[in-house]
Amino acid sequence: SAAPPPPPRCSPPSLSASAHPGKMASHIVGYPRMGPKRELKFALESFWDGKSSAEDLEKVATDLRASIWKQMADAGIKYIPSNTFSYYDQVLDTTAMLGAVPDRYSWTGGEINLSTYFSMARGNATVPAMEMTKWFDTNYHFIVPELAPSTKFSYSSHKAINEYKEAKALGVDTVPVLVGPVSYLLLSKAAKGVEKSFSPLSLLSSILPVYKEVIAELKAAGASWIQFDEPTLVKDLESHQLSAFSAAYAELESALSGLNVLVETYFADVPADSYKTLTSLSSVTAYGFDLERGTKTLELVKSGFPAGKYLFAGVVDGRNIWADDLAASLATLQSLEAVVGKDKLVVSTSCSLMHTAVDLVNETKLDDEIKSWLAFAAQKVVEVNALAKALAGQKDEAYFAANAAALASRRSSPRVTNEEVQKAATALKGSDHRRATTVSARLDAQQKKLNLPVLPTTTIGSFPQTVELRRVRREYKAKKISEEEYTNAIKEEISKVVKIQEELDIDVLVHGEPERNDMVEYFGEQLSGFTFTANGWVQSYGSRCVKPPIIYGDVSRPNPMTVFWSKMAQSMTARPMKGMLTGPVTILNWSFVRNDQPRLVAS
Ligand SMILES: *[C@@H]1O[C@H](CO)[C@@H](O)[C@H](O)[C@H]1NC(C)=O
Ligand SMILES: *[C@@H]1O[C@H](CO)[C@@H](O)[C@H](O)[C@H]1NC(C)=O
Ligand SMILES: *[C@@H]1O[C@H](CO)[C@@H](O)[C@H](O)[C@H]1NC(C)=O
Ligand SMILES: *[C@@H]1O[C@H](CO)[C@@H](O)[C@H](O)[C@H]1NC(C)=O
Repeated sequence: SAAPPPPPRCSPPSLSASAHPGKMASHIVGYPRMGPKRELKFALESFWDGKSSAEDLEKVATDLRASIWKQMADAGIKYIPSNTFSYYDQVLDTTAMLGAVPDRYSWTGGEINLSTYFSMARGNATVPAMEMTKWFDTNYHFIVPELAPSTKFSYSSHKAINEYKEAKALGVDTVPVLVGPVSYLLLSKAAKGVEKSFSPLSLLSSILPVYKEVIAELKAAGASWIQFDEPTLVKDLESHQLSAFSAAYAELESALSGLNVLVETYFADVPADSYKTLTSLSSVTAYGFDLERGTKTLELVKSGFPAGKYLFAGVVDGRNIWADDLAASLATLQSLEAVVGKDKLVVSTSCSLMHTAVDLVNETKLDDEIKSWLAFAAQKVVEVNALAKALAGQKDEAYFAANAAALASRRSSPRVTNEEVQKAATALKGSDHRRATTVSARLDAQQKKLNLPVLPTTTIGSFPQTVELRRVRREYKAKKISEEEYTNAIKEEISKVVKIQEELDIDVLVHGEPERNDMVEYFGEQLSGFTFTANGWVQSYGSRCVKPPIIYGDVSRPNPMTVFWSKMAQSMTARPMKGMLTGPVTILNWSFVRNDQPRLVAS
């Protein structure tokens, strides 16, 4: 009694893998949006100031997208993402796609326009913006969706399909990227006034119909792949949250049939129970893992990966600015090939490249040696492709040799290793971390010297950087004014600030830090082991970008950094003046740090 054969399923091998046959299996999770010279930032801010039109803004955006797609296509990338561009934030784009606009924005339906979109992002004179919060442990911030049991969803932004078609018209068949439905809800919060028992996840079945519409349109337009970013899978999820993943991708299964479906995770290990749930989703045909931070995930993959599915191996780190160790990555990839099969392994980045700087090419002020150790987004795209080619037996020996030489130079460079610092660090004892006196002894000594009132007043530290100060600094840097003129200008500002505080009868004064361009950069520029880029900007939120210093070597302080200004300031007043330092943890957290030593020292 033979059971009837199972109905034929659309299995991945029967689908064309991509519209770029012949290209090696390479993929980029996402790419910086701002442009190499922050073109998008300036276009956005000019539009917000009413100095340019929506068409002007759209033109800048269209040109940036085209150049990014072309760059990846030229580099030989097979799976090129689309819909990773954004005027503000990808989570807000998803809110727009779902029509989940909070009531206060008086949206009445229809395609969401720039004015409603930017009101949600930034607020205006009459309505506050939506809340913003940190995107996992990065310095990027996203706009938190506000949901309520009464939220109605409708397909209200056709951005994903528009970008897919836009790329296709340029001859690039892309992988459209959507924030996955479960991560979207897990990252949402309950709108104000909603009962405590409400969980945004309960809206899953209400948002999936919109996802189905989007998927159907992408399919009709010719997409053969789709990528769902589900980074919440790296968190410790409760079983009902994991069940939501199974439910969501089962519900989408028929909509997704005929498509290759990539679920992308990043920033950390995927816990074992989540890995099990994820790899048993039958509508999903490919998995993306961050193998840079996800070392345990690598072990999970090696101990079991579903047959016939694709592994998108995120070996090139999307969160730093260092050149990849190509030989090590290739070895990892080769060991994975044995597990998942030769035609099922795709080389990828550990996460979107939006968390690193854009392009090294015009960093003319970095010296050549340090430059050879680095790779920004544009260079990482090339690394991914070089690894994919090597895996396919077309190793570019010269490229790999240059990489190995750069890594060797970095390892042995006296600029990285400073014997004095190493010796001093090794000599640190437990007692070096403890003060020699007690708090009360120090308080007594302080009181004797300063004679402060019971509740002394002070301010945190910096006074505003005026237009005049910025001009003086610019002119000093451009050597248009002498050091003496610069020092005098700063001195004048300090004296002004001291007078103001004395008039206000403040007890402990500050000098106002007029000599500091930025609280981290100022110190970094005076410490050895730090370097600075001209255009190494990373998006923090909206149009705001930061330019983290690069810490490449053992840090030391060749000269005093603050004594000159502190002394000068103290000489202007009889009251106590605070000495101001940016703390080491903040300096570390706001920099691109070394990857050749652990972030924490074992104690
Ligand atoms: C602020 O945004 C709301 C919602 O988008 C809109 O109705 C209102 O006209 C805007 N107000 C101003 C002053 O732009
Ligand atoms: C944008 O949409 C809002 C809400 O639907 C509408 O009030 C407004 O007039 C639209 N603005 C533009 C510039 O079309
Ligand atoms: C420093 O950054 C890490 C992650 O990058 C974060 O978890 C931590 O909270 C930050 N610490 C401080 C003091 O900002
Ligand atoms: C680098 O500089 C050249 C010459 O100014 C310019 O043409 C090119 O667009 C720049 N490239 C990037 C990525 O900034």
